[in-house]
Order: sequence, then structure tokens, then C-alpha cells
Amino acid sequence: MLSEKLQEMLNEQISKEFYSAYLYLSIEAYFLSLNLNGFANWFHVQVQEEKDHAMLMYNYLAKVGGRIILKEIAAPKVEFVSIEDALKTTLEHEQFVTRSIYDIVDASILERDHKINYFLQWFVNEQTEEEANAENNLKKFMIVGNDGKGILMMDSELATRVYVPITSTQTQSTQP
Ligand SMILES: [Fe+2]
Ligand SMILES: [Fe+2]
Repeated sequence: MLSEKLQEMLNEQISKEFYSAYLYLSIEAYFLSLNLNGFANWFHVQVQEEKDHAMLMYNYLAKVGGRIILKEIAAPKVEFVSIEDALKTTLEHEQFVTRSIYDIVDASILERDHKINYFLQWFVNEQTEEEANAENNLKKFMIVGNDGKGILMMDSELATRVYVPITSTQTQSTQP
């Protein structure tokens, strides 16, 4: 049985994942406004992943008989002063999400809830990838700087990102 505390933390995390989708949709819109459709595509894929993250938690709560309580999703940042600002915002947000996942993992260890702890391991692993991707984008952009050709090259590269739905084999630990 899931404790009230862990149930509350997971419900909070669902809203954080939806907020992530909302934030990345906002960053996608910023890049669309710059006609950088490759950057926009990268963020559009990210939006879909974030919705998947929220739904994995939603489904987990349903399966273990927890109560799903959806919370308010705050308005995301809409003004970005530069590409660097948008990419930095992304990295900082992912670092925030990682800390938040770690808090739930910590609580699951304290309560000796091995089931949710196992479920959360997929997210621990996913956050490693999310932070690495966000950092990679930022670092590449810092090399390119304000060189127009470099930005267009990076835009072409980011245009190739394809959304891959999370499969059940990838998320074995998310099956309660
Ligand atoms: Fe996420
Ligand atoms: Fe991801």
C-alpha cells in the first residue's frame, strides 16, 4: 500500500512533468518565432516525452490503488532573451526535476517501499539522459555562439530528432 506521503509526492511530480511539457511547448514557440524549426522540433519531441513521464506516474498510481489528484499547472516562462537563455532554462529545469525525483526516491527508501523505489529507478536513469541532452545542446550552442551558419547547422541536426514512444521493455520497472 502506498503511503499518503508518497502518493502526494507522486501527484506533485505528475504536475511537474506536465509543467515540463508546458515549459518546453513555450520554448518550442520561441524557436518557431525565430524560424528555427529544427530547434522547435527538438522541443516538440521533448513535450511528448514529458507527457509520457506524467502518464507513467498516473498509470502507476492507478495500478497500485493510489488516488490521482491533478494539480494546477503554472504558466511557463514565455520570454527568452536569447537561444542561450532558452537552452540554459532547459538544463536548469532538468536539474530541478532530477532533484525532485531524488526526493521521492529518498522518501521511498525511508519508508522501505521497494515497489515504488523500483518504479522510480527508470526515472533516475531517464534524468541522466535528460540532463546530458540538455547540456549537450547548450555546450554545442556555446561553441557556435552567434555564428549564423553554425546556428543553421545545429538547427538541421536538431530537426532529425524523432519521438519514440516509451515501450514496455524500456520501462519494465514502471510495471507494478
Ligand atoms: Fe520528465
Ligand atoms: Fe528523455
